[in-house]
Amino acid sequence: MKEAISTYCRELKLGGSLVENIDKIKAVTHEEFLLRLFEAEVMKRKAAKKTKILKNAKFDMIKTFADYEFKDIQIPKSISQEDIVTAGFIERKENLILFGPVGTGKTHLAMAIGAEACGQFKNVRFYRTAALVNDLIEAKKNGNLNRFLKQLSAIDLLICDEWGYIPFDREGAQLLFQVVADCYERRSVIITTNLEFGKWNAIFYDERLTSAIIDRLIHHSHILMFGGASYRLKNSCMN
Ligand SMILES: Nc1ncnc2c1ncn2[C@@H]1O[C@H](COP(=O)(O)OP(=O)(O)OP(=O)(O)O)[C@@H](O)[C@H]1O
Ligand SMILES: [Mg+2]
Repeated sequence: MKEAISTYCRELKLGGSLVENIDKIKAVTHEEFLLRLFEAEVMKRKAAKKTKILKNAKFDMIKTFADYEFKDIQIPKSISQEDIVTAGFIERKENLILFGPVGTGKTHLAMAIGAEACGQFKNVRFYRTAALVNDLIEAKKNGNLNRFLKQLSAIDLLICDEWGYIPFDREGAQLLFQVVADCYERRSVIITTNLEFGKWNAIFYDERLTSAIIDRLIHHSHILMFGGASYRLKNSCMN
C-alpha cells in the first residue's frame, strides 16, 4: 500500500518522502492525520530550504545577534536597531554601510543580519570584496561575466566585507562598479569598511567612477559608525 501511496505522491508532485511520516503520525481523525502529515512535510521542506540558502550565502563562519553588543555603534535616525536586526531594510532595497576601525564588529553585524535574512528565505551572498573582484575578473577572462552577473542578480542581499582593505586594479574597479550599479534600487548591499568616502579614490583610481559608486551606494543607505576599542584586542590573550 505504501508503495502505491508513494507513487501517487510523486504523480501529484508531493514528493516521495511524504509516505515516510505515515507511521510516525498519531491522529484521532482522518482530517487531523492529513493536517499533521502535510505540516511535517512543509516543515521539512522549509528547513531544507533554509539550510540551502544559508549554504549558498557562503559565510565563512556563523555569527548571530545572541552575544552582540550595540553600545558602541552610532545608528542614524533613518533606521532603527529593530529594523537592522530584523533585516527589514532589505524589503525596501536599502543599503547599510558599516564604517569603523578594526575589530569593532562590522563583519559580525553583517553576518548576523545576513543569517537573519537567510532565515526569512532571502537570498544572501557574503563576499570579501577582494574575492568578489577576483571572481569578476576570472569570469570576464573566461567569457562568463554575464552569467556571473545574472547569478548575482538573483540575490536579495549582497554583503561586501572588507571594502577597500585591498586596492583593485582598474578593471577590478570597473567590474565592481558594474555590480553596484546593477544592485542600485533593486537589491540591498551591506558594505563593511574602514575607509572614509574621501579616500575611496585611492582604491578606485578614477574620480568619476568613485563618485558614481558612492552616489549609488549612499542613495537609500544608512551609515552606521562603529566606535570603541577592538574586540579582538579586548579579548586577546594579553589581557
Ligand atoms: N559588538 C560586538 N559584540 C560582540 N562581539 C563582537 C562585537 N564586535 C566584535 N565582536 C567580536 O570581535 C571579533 C572582531 O569583530 P569583527 O570581525 O566583526 O570586526 P571588524 O569590525 O569586521 O574588523 P575588521 O575591520 O578588522 O575586519 C569577532 O570575533 C566578533 O565576534
Ligand atoms: Mg571585518
